Amino acid sequence: MKAINNNNSERVQEFYNENTEKFLAVYGDIIQAFRTLNITDYLSYTIKSAGILPGMKVLDAGCGVCGPAIYFAENILDIQIDACTISDVQFNMAKKNIADKDLGNSITPHLLDYHTIASRFGNEAFDMIYFLESFGHSTSKMELIDACWKVLKPGGKLYIKDLFKRISNDDWEQLRIDEICTEINTAYEYDIPDLSSTLNILRSVGLELRTVKVPEIEIDQFEKLTISNTFQNLFNIGKINGWDEYIFPIDFYELILTKPKDLKPKNMHLYSLNKP
Ligand SMILES: C[S@@+](CC[C@H](N)C(=O)[O-])C[C@H]1O[C@@H](n2cnc3c(N)ncnc32)[C@H](O)[C@@H]1O
Repeated sequence: MKAINNNNSERVQEFYNENTEKFLAVYGDIIQAFRTLNITDYLSYTIKSAGILPGMKVLDAGCGVCGPAIYFAENILDIQIDACTISDVQFNMAKKNIADKDLGNSITPHLLDYHTIASRFGNEAFDMIYFLESFGHSTSKMELIDACWKVLKPGGKLYIKDLFKRISNDDWEQLRIDEICTEINTAYEYDIPDLSSTLNILRSVGLELRTVKVPEIEIDQFEKLTISNTFQNLFNIGKINGWDEYIFPIDFYELILTKPKDLKPKNMHLYSLNKP
């Protein structure tokens, strides 16, 4: 099986093959920085917020070791999840985790570059695609979104939860934001998306924008990024070397878009046809 599509994916693969054990030691099976103290609260929030429904056929694009997919399969009736990761280390762990929970009928793991989903799954295969802090690894976002458009059924939904570069009207602050984002990108093999250009790419392929929002969780449930700071300090990956000139560099957002059911220009205003 050809898992790799481009050089960046190869570097991301190496990064996760090398570091997954470290991530799991600190994060557990859910490798997400923005989370709740009790991670299942965040996963159940995700189900509601993303609108993952019983009976859906979904693609988990960048599935880690299938921590989220397993929770969804255990809590959403008749869901069918194809879950892909670029890392063979994660793929093998995901296979074992799924088998241990006896969820082989609900989740199919794939060792696959998410840029290649269209050739792997064909057109109009999924009711929904979700990216949970995985979209930003792509350095070919147009190619990736194009592929998502192809594999989504008409009326299907794309959900992206990720970190996006903050913007400032202060030149010095923006310079620091840019510098810190570059450091994070290098440390994590990431390409922190810019919100406006991401929305432009998503809309340019024809997806309808439904929602842009910060994750709406209670402040007393919020984990406050402690785990990701611990990870950085323990393993010296993206470590913050001084707070004097530190500027918080990112915002977390959830994006929800739908693929229109009817592409005829005369019907393009009938948004409710695609009610998420
Ligand atoms: C921060 S982890 C998030 C994992 C998972 N969504 C979770 O919540 O536990 C990023 C994931 O994106 C995956 N990923 C990054 N680039 C990828 C690519 N080109 N194709 C498939 N998966 C990719 C990595 O393998 C990793 O599993």
